[in-house]
Amino acid sequence: MSELYSITEKIISNGKGILAADESTGTMTKRLETVNVKSTAENRLLFRETLLSSESMKDCIGGVILYDETIKQTTFNKKTIPELIESSGAVPGIKVDTGAKVLANSKDEKITEGLDGLRERLKEYYKLGARFTKWRAVYVISEKFPSKLAIHTNAQALARYAALVQESGMVPIVEPEVLMDGKHKAEDCLEKTSEVLKKCYDELILNKVDLKGTILKPNMILPGSASNQKLEAKKIAELTLKCLKESVPTEVPGIAFLSGGQTEKEAAKNLNEINKLNNTNFIMTYSYGRALQQSALKFWSKDINNINGTQKMFDHRAKMCSLAAQGKWTEEIENK
Ligand code: 13P
Repeated sequence: MSELYSITEKIISNGKGILAADESTGTMTKRLETVNVKSTAENRLLFRETLLSSESMKDCIGGVILYDETIKQTTFNKKTIPELIESSGAVPGIKVDTGAKVLANSKDEKITEGLDGLRERLKEYYKLGARFTKWRAVYVISEKFPSKLAIHTNAQALARYAALVQESGMVPIVEPEVLMDGKHKAEDCLEKTSEVLKKCYDELILNKVDLKGTILKPNMILPGSASNQKLEAKKIAELTLKCLKESVPTEVPGIAFLSGGQTEKEAAKNLNEINKLNNTNFIMTYSYGRALQQSALKFWSKDINNINGTQKMFDHRAKMCSLAAQGKWTEEIENK
């Protein structure tokens, strides 16, 4: 188990966080199509390799979550992608769920699948260099949802996944994402997220998962994206800390937030406020997909051979997130 603790530490300590570059081919295709780049295996690799060769990988990125396609790809310099990640001192990780599917008997909700054959797939990913993994459950908020059924079944799946991952010598990232979509208030997000997290930890404990060798990847506590409630970053930080303090066992070493549709700046500002107020023992950092990649992707799409320019955009975002993970981000540095 001590091996798991040192992997965890390497990923989230010293102002480092996680780059979530594990978009499935379907999701990545949508992202590329919105910026008018053809979604070929070569282009997906080129963009990802560009980010993974950036300067900021050394100081700001402790781990990278990959998708099945990418972990098996080789760079133009004939390194495997996990080797490229390790060369900057970061840890390669892999998304191992097979996606969120319609939940039987609650068709507007989702259950994440991927447990069948997982033990064998984990062995393969370990051989390919992965040392941590991700599994994402998604929950919607409305008057009726998330239902007890969605909360219960997804918690069970997350816990069974986490137990198998630790058995295989890797660190599981547990990601129960309560979506931002909807008209709900932040107070509703707080209540529902707390319920979801508590159930997840009940199941993780029942499955004898060693919480010290896990990382939680939750949403922040935010108003729904279609709500008219506007909250200061300080209030978001207070609600988020209240939720995590009440729902997450103290053994969990670190919390790496998803960005979930926040803008790049909001995701940095809110994380910064959380760290300024952090009165818990948890390390609070980032595991951002869109909030680390959006401006780099936009820039890259204008000239996919402009590697340096794209890396500068990414480096700035990674630096802002790393400062936010230490409570040292400011508007002034952001706008420089
Ligand atoms: P976002 O930061 O874009 O929400 O992605 C994080 C992630 O990995 C979702 O599973």
